[in-house]
Amino acid sequence: MKLEERTVAEYHGRPVKFFDLENGHGLRVRLMNYGATLISLHIPDRTGRLEDITLGFDSFEDYLGNNPYFGATVGRYANRIGGARFVLGGQEYLLARNEGPNHLHGGLKGFDKVMWEAGPVSDSRSVGVRFNYLSPDGDEGYPGNLDCQVTYLLNENDELHLAYLATTDRPTHVNLSHHSYFNLAGSRKDNILEHELQIMASRFTPADERLIPTGEIKEVAGTPLDFLKPRSIGQRLKELPAGYDHNFILDSRGELALAARVVEPESGRVMELYTTEPGLQFYSGNFLDGTIRGKGGRPYGRHSAFCLEPQHFPDSPNKPQFPSTVLKPGEIYKSLTVFKFLTV
Ligand code: BGC
Repeated sequence: MKLEERTVAEYHGRPVKFFDLENGHGLRVRLMNYGATLISLHIPDRTGRLEDITLGFDSFEDYLGNNPYFGATVGRYANRIGGARFVLGGQEYLLARNEGPNHLHGGLKGFDKVMWEAGPVSDSRSVGVRFNYLSPDGDEGYPGNLDCQVTYLLNENDELHLAYLATTDRPTHVNLSHHSYFNLAGSRKDNILEHELQIMASRFTPADERLIPTGEIKEVAGTPLDFLKPRSIGQRLKELPAGYDHNFILDSRGELALAARVVEPESGRVMELYTTEPGLQFYSGNFLDGTIRGKGGRPYGRHSAFCLEPQHFPDSPNKPQFPSTVLKPGEIYKSLTVFKFLTV
């Protein structure tokens, strides 16, 4: 197991650091303290050829420009809060509006755009980085000083563990997630339509045209959202003109369980996602339109990658029927997601 750390730039007087992790099978992960971001992830195909399977940029500076949350840690609230407001303890809180009238991925300066404290962590079978960030009371409109920790650990079972912890000094809402854009074909293909996807979810939360849940819960059976049996992402995509951008209600119940499995048939790369979260946002890269040039100058077009974001349901602060995202003083917010890589 290897871990290397280097300073690549300065941001508001603080060192921007890249952390390179490597396990005994050559899997490599690059992380950065700005946004507690995953920059790259090299995994082998069935012949052992290593390739980066995530979208992003080569240099830190590019992350400051047009960047749709590539590899970022999103918070305080991943996904949307309708009307950018909620009422908690009888008081109304107004949040930053950064998507029309709504609040998306923590606001104008969410956790993806802040500098985290970072330090290496390791044990006999894993190496990683622990990131800490203290979000001050009133940050983007949220109440309470929120003390957050995200730990990435790469182990010898070819798993990348993402463990989240948070505490607060006033009741608030928390919903942290990870926002990597994956293309398991690496550089071989510029779309993910032939990836075979399985999502362990029988139900989803229908949403309005601005992607705020209506509050209903529906069965995926008979809809293009039925991924209970593996099938290609492209197979029924045409039935959804806006593409996939939906919150699936996972069938698991709070324990760490398999939430999704993705197979890229040509390379043989497989990614399994396990999480303790109740929901999973599946986003098929609909808003990528080729204007962003990423690693190696490559233009990122529509459907050039997919996101699978383990999280609580969108707009939970305004939907009392959804699992609660309230965190109170004395409680510990805990969440775990595991990406496991293998080949077929
Ligand atoms: C959302 C998309 C959004 C993307 C980038 C995803 O989590 O579901 O609607 O466009 O993030 O902001």
